[in-house]
Amino acid sequence: MQDGTRAPENFMKHITCIEDLRVLHKRRVPKAFFDYADCGSYAEETLRANREDLQRIKFRQRILVDVSKRDLSTTILGEPAALPLILAPVGLLGMQHGDGEILACRAAQAAGIPFTQSTMSICSIEDIAANVEKPFWFQLYVMKDRGFIKSLIERAIAARCSALVLTVDLQVIGQRHADIKNGMTVPPEWSLSKLIDFATKPAWVAGVMRGKRRTFGNLAGHLKGTDDITALSTWIGTQFDTTLGWKDVDWVRSIWPGKLILKGILDVEDAELAAKTGAQAIVVSNHGGRQLDGAPSSVKVLPEIVESVGSQMEIMFDGGIRSGQDVMRALALGAKSCMMGRAYTHGLGAGGQAGVAKAIEIIRNELATTMGLCGVNTIAEIDDHVLAV
Ligand SMILES: Cc1cc2nc3c(=O)[nH]c(=O)nc-3n(C[C@H](O)[C@H](O)[C@H](O)COP(=O)(O)O)c2cc1C
Repeated sequence: MQDGTRAPENFMKHITCIEDLRVLHKRRVPKAFFDYADCGSYAEETLRANREDLQRIKFRQRILVDVSKRDLSTTILGEPAALPLILAPVGLLGMQHGDGEILACRAAQAAGIPFTQSTMSICSIEDIAANVEKPFWFQLYVMKDRGFIKSLIERAIAARCSALVLTVDLQVIGQRHADIKNGMTVPPEWSLSKLIDFATKPAWVAGVMRGKRRTFGNLAGHLKGTDDITALSTWIGTQFDTTLGWKDVDWVRSIWPGKLILKGILDVEDAELAAKTGAQAIVVSNHGGRQLDGAPSSVKVLPEIVESVGSQMEIMFDGGIRSGQDVMRALALGAKSCMMGRAYTHGLGAGGQAGVAKAIEIIRNELATTMGLCGVNTIAEIDDHVLAV
């Protein structure tokens, strides 16, 4: 299993849900990186609300309906997808498992769903493009250095990325207490407690050491004079742009010729402005409870956003997806597809490509079962009639 592709039989047999992958992730990956994935900002109110509000939504159980021909396939931005699921952009996947971005992308493509590469990846756009078979999506943060951002977009075009996900909810960064307490850095800085932690995770160390890179692959080497890691981290820290506005979305639109998705919309007024930008889709998202703590859960605001702009653009959803039941809930409230972040990251940390494949398979099987027990056969049939009032 060390290369992330060969998992022992036992590994798969005993994994029955995303929480099992989470437990294994915690066991296999150093604390700083597990906490980076698992935690939310500040008091984690929004992180918890994402889960609690999803779980409050109940289904109508229907009986004696012929559900023998259930079909989970759908389209996402006009492209066929095996199920209405997307791997969300997650930074530092290559620190959860060596070459993590490549392995997660391969698992997504084998399962017939899109993978989104984060700007803050360990593998570069080119590393992924050279090691997977099909186009993937690229997520962009617009940083102060617009010349560099333009070059990133051009690299995504050259790599034939099939959609650009522009994340718009990170002008300032929500604090995650655990990252500060753990001294989370990329690459890891050595301390006695970290060395002890790493010594108990030999498979992780071997995987990361074999990986292509141990720093931000999209940024390293492309910035004048910042091959040095400390300079690179300092540069990133100064690059988040508090002046960002809708005009910057227009600027990105003018450079990127393909499908554009705006990620991080949580308010109807913003959704209405987003609908005027020429973007094809939005992701209703609070960044997985990692940004504005005290913001509502994504699922709470989903229905009003669907009502307002759902006929003008494709509505995607994320925040708290840990099961196929959760996907069904979001679809019932009008989302066309769901992104998952932590659920597959736990799979990656637990077992590389096989772990991500397992996370997708778990969600797929749960969605198929939930559809059957609600008496529906196709994704198109899922709407609020599957919900108990
Ligand atoms: C560890 C981690 C890193 C993330 N990094 C990014 C990122 O680089 N860019 C981005 O747009 N969103 C990022 N996100 C947010 C996810 O894309 C997604 O919105 C969120 O994970 C959804 O919530 P969930 O984890 O409950 O599924 C990150 C999320 C996590 C958990």
